[in-house]
Amino acid sequence: MAINEDTSLELRHVFVAAKSGGGKSQVMRNVIVPAKGVRAVFWDPDRDHPCKHYTSRREFLLALKKADAAKKPFRMGWAGDDGQETFLWWCDAVWRILDGKFDTWVVTEELADLKLPQNIPVPYGRLLKRGRKYGAILVGNTQRIQEVPKTPVTGAAVLWVGVHEFQDATYLEKMTGLKADDIAKQKNLHFYRKQGGDWSQEVVKYKAYGKKTGPRNQFKQ
Ligand SMILES: Nc1ncnc2c1ncn2[C@@H]1O[C@H](COP(=O)(O)OP(=O)(O)O)[C@@H](O)[C@H]1O
Ligand SMILES: [Mg+2]
Repeated sequence: MAINEDTSLELRHVFVAAKSGGGKSQVMRNVIVPAKGVRAVFWDPDRDHPCKHYTSRREFLLALKKADAAKKPFRMGWAGDDGQETFLWWCDAVWRILDGKFDTWVVTEELADLKLPQNIPVPYGRLLKRGRKYGAILVGNTQRIQEVPKTPVTGAAVLWVGVHEFQDATYLEKMTGLKADDIAKQKNLHFYRKQGGDWSQEVVKYKAYGKKTGPRNQFKQ
């Protein structure tokens, strides 16, 4: 159960939309979520974020509880089963360690993969709608803007819009007022960023992490 509600805390949620390879994980990792000194918990099936990853529910819960009790910074992520039911379990686990006396970054990768209904299930809806008062800063992303519920997008204080295919760009034009053409012709790692009604243009610097890029194994013909 989240504790120490503080209604004076501002809404700081962030949402990032871009097609695959557009730079969503990069902007979350390199720009949005502080690199250290924070409490951060990740829904991170593809291990895009530097943190300790878990695949066992029991181990994840124990570690999260212990980290919370220590009242120190931590970074831990879920990289196990990536289905909706597990996501809702994860949301519930996160809700239980929120504490209005501390900020907690709650980072969720690729929301469209979860097939969430517009009428958001309670564990995730609770984080979205009440997390603010308990220090939660939700950072979500999707590569398919038309396949995620609207609340995490419209309820964000900061919105990042990267490159999209034209069909999604048209949808985003209606949602944001940006021109579909401008959205669709962006390069990877380039974004329009909206905060407090103002748009700016940002370029994110690529940083490698963990997985090495380089020659890949190819089968001989
Ligand atoms: N070695 C590299 N140097 C510079 N840019 C790179 C490198 N490797 C990948 N990228 C860029 O980073 C992008 C991947 O960013 P990422 O945040 O993982 O995308 P997303 O999460 O939106 O799918 C690639 O599309 C490419 O433009
Ligand atoms: Mg990604």
